[in-house]
Amino acid sequence: MRKKIAAANWKMNLTIQEGKELVNSILNEIQSIPEGKELIFAVPFPYITEIETQLKGHQNTSVAAQNISNLKAGAYTGEVCGFMLQSIATKYVIIGHSERRMYFHETNEVTKSKVDLALEYKISPLFCCGEPLEIRESGSQNEFVYKQVEESLFHLDAENIQKVVIAYEPIWAIGTGLTASSEQAQEMHAAIRNLLSSKYGHNVAENISILYGGSVKANNAAELFAMKDVDGGLVGGASLDAHEFAAIVKAL
Ligand code: G3H
Repeated sequence: MRKKIAAANWKMNLTIQEGKELVNSILNEIQSIPEGKELIFAVPFPYITEIETQLKGHQNTSVAAQNISNLKAGAYTGEVCGFMLQSIATKYVIIGHSERRMYFHETNEVTKSKVDLALEYKISPLFCCGEPLEIRESGSQNEFVYKQVEESLFHLDAENIQKVVIAYEPIWAIGTGLTASSEQAQEMHAAIRNLLSSKYGHNVAENISILYGGSVKANNAAELFAMKDVDGGLVGGASLDAHEFAAIVKAL
């Protein structure tokens, strides 16, 4: 049975003190996360260990890195690679976020290498896909997203694909206040699940959590998360406000 997940993506925001206060306030508001659900904080690299320590004893909570190198190890100044993240017990890593595709020119091939290196070091990829506005307007969003999924994930076997969490994030909805309607989200999530099913079979596809990302807020989370194939959210802006994010977690 797949998990329901609320993942906070802090992006490049907050000091460690602000981050710890935020986590503290959120944990105070939500108290506990039941089995079958998970709360993830995707934090900047230097904060991973401290936030992990803060989450100890809080069931079904974890930390994610926001990036991983596509290179294995060695003389690559400034890179952070899989074995390093594994050595600090990082459970998840975001791969293929549209901001990395856009500003750091990550291709499907690069994200494929990152997926492989994450899995090699026992870190679950939070794999992002999603189309820009012009593709949505042209009506070819499904083909665009299928290509991202197929080129970066479809070399995996049935065991490894089930370690991946997929996040559908239409680029036109990220940080813009424009959310995909719950019907638009459901339509794409169902299409992604059908694609997974065509490659891996129904049972495998049913085990994979597919999150929605793009202007998820307290006032739209419940409607989005009620959709059959929407298994939670990857939340940017609203995850920086304790009360707002706690309400999103409660809507899971
Ligand atoms: O990773 C999160 C997404 O980029 C969504 O960001 O909630 O600020 O639109 P947002």
